Amino acid sequence: MQSLLNVTVYCLSGTGNSLRAARWFEETTKGKGIDATVVPLESARPERELVDSHHQLAVFVFPTHGFTAPWKMIKFAFSMPRRKRVQAFCAATRGALKFGRFTVPGAAGTAALLIALILLLKGYRLRGITGLDMPSNWMSLYSGFSTENAPPYIEKRRAGARRIFRQVLAGKPHWASWSNAWDLLVWGLPLAWLSALYLLFGRFFLAKLFFATNACTGCGQCAEHCPNNAIIMKGRRHPRRPYWMHDCESCMRCMAWCPSHAVEAGHSWAVILWLVTTLPGGAWALSRLAAQLPFIAGLENRFTILLADIAYFYASLFLSYAVFHRLLRLRWFNEFFARTTLTRLYPRYHEPQTSLDDVTVKREEKEDEWEDFRKRAALQRTDQSADRRPDVLISDASRPFRPRCCRP
Ligand SMILES: Cc1cc2nc3c(=O)[nH]c(=O)nc-3n(C[C@H](O)[C@H](O)[C@H](O)COP(=O)(O)O)c2cc1C
Ligand code: SF4
Ligand code: SF4
Repeated sequence: MQSLLNVTVYCLSGTGNSLRAARWFEETTKGKGIDATVVPLESARPERELVDSHHQLAVFVFPTHGFTAPWKMIKFAFSMPRRKRVQAFCAATRGALKFGRFTVPGAAGTAALLIALILLLKGYRLRGITGLDMPSNWMSLYSGFSTENAPPYIEKRRAGARRIFRQVLAGKPHWASWSNAWDLLVWGLPLAWLSALYLLFGRFFLAKLFFATNACTGCGQCAEHCPNNAIIMKGRRHPRRPYWMHDCESCMRCMAWCPSHAVEAGHSWAVILWLVTTLPGGAWALSRLAAQLPFIAGLENRFTILLADIAYFYASLFLSYAVFHRLLRLRWFNEFFARTTLTRLYPRYHEPQTSLDDVTVKREEKEDEWEDFRKRAALQRTDQSADRRPDVLISDASRPFRPRCCRP
């Protein structure tokens, strides 16, 4: 096993849990005298950061969504450049739940394995995978940790996480563990079908549950800090209200940090939306069309009916939300849905030591930082024989890039 000279920790984080875990990896690595940099996905340019060298380790830290990796993380893994020598390690943070005095570990399912498999296809040398328990941030579903009772739990998890990181940095593989068995055998593989449904339909449905209550001041902070630019401020009258687009990945950042506590996920609205979107509207439309156009009748079978129903699901979801958003302007209508969701009772969670600025990568900042980084990266790109010149690799090319948001 080659000694490590450089570790790049790619991090996706909504409410700071994964960023915290990424920092633990960075600290552990630096404690061993190895260079480490945390790079948020929003500003990552792996083709420039990762020299194809045995001395380079790429670590991926991200949250679990629907027992698998978030779509943004999957896309990022597919966009990774091919590397034959770079080593890789994947850590999915998962949401532990608190019931009174008891805490139940989260379930990362196939999250880490899926990203690891994509990286394997890209040629990376995998050192292992893990799930890491953190307080759950899934506030639209259930109430869990508050910002007050989370710190002692996070502190406990830190020791366990660092043990795993030290093992990885020492070059030991991390595959066989109770935690990975729990994730994969109990949840991930049996519920792989559910994860697929989550990626295809669930995440869009969840995005369309968000709305702003009458308490919203129209400050626009949620739109400004959304990592996916998935919120637009709509309306001609003041205050303009946030509108959640289909790109929302339910990372919970907007809900966690809204200064007016105005972001809710509508539970009564979810019931209505479910009823509307699961009607067999596609099948009905297809049969009407077939009655008019004989050539369509020839195409009517179980497969085309399924496709028509899927198209109906998306169309009715987006249309219903557009109507819902307009009606929310009526105070009584807004009040009704605000009062009939449980999320108004749930505490807002974000990783206690993480601020909104810590998790946000502003576009202009990204550009400034990257200008500087690009100059150094030019050196890196010319280094095709990095393995034969590891001292050059570390002293010139891979001085760590650190976006402003990631500076300690
Ligand atoms: C939409 C959504 C789905 C989630 N699904 C799971 C899950 O299937 N299993 C799990 O253990 N945690 C799940 N969680 C909890 C998060 O993975 C966990 O809290 C994570 O640490 C959040 O990291 P972040 O703060 O970096 O975004 C989910 C959270 C959200 C918002
Ligand atoms: S929902 Fe909250 S953060 Fe978004 S505009 Fe309204 S008050 Fe501001
Ligand atoms: S809209 Fe909110 S929950 Fe959705 S991706 Fe943006 S910040 Fe995250």
